Amino acid sequence: MKTAWTTLCELGDLVEGLGKLVDIDGKSIAIFRVGETVHAMEDRCPHAGGSMSGGYLDDGCAVCPLHGWAFDLGNGSLRGSASGDEVLGVFETRVLREGDRAWVQAKI
Ligand code: FES
Repeated sequence: MKTAWTTLCELGDLVEGLGKLVDIDGKSIAIFRVGETVHAMEDRCPHAGGSMSGGYLDDGCAVCPLHGWAFDLGNGSLRGSASGDEVLGVFETRVLREGDRAWVQAKI
């Protein structure tokens, strides 16, 4: 498990309800803002490789823009999946405030 925090972007770069793609350390990460909370997950959908950052939020899930699979923002599980086989990796996040700036960080 990764223990160091990596800065992904500024909180102000995120639009509520829409994803943002960040490529860092060889990983493509989709970031979503819900109020003052931020969620980060692998960008590549396990169904057919859709970019989760191009999706939208629905009831605590990020929805893939290609075919609508929805993954829980908290644990990456596929909504409605009986098998639990389809899971997106999620990353622990925090918002670090320094003066009047706020940085989105994750353990990636
Ligand atoms: S590629 Fe994501 S639902 Fe099909």
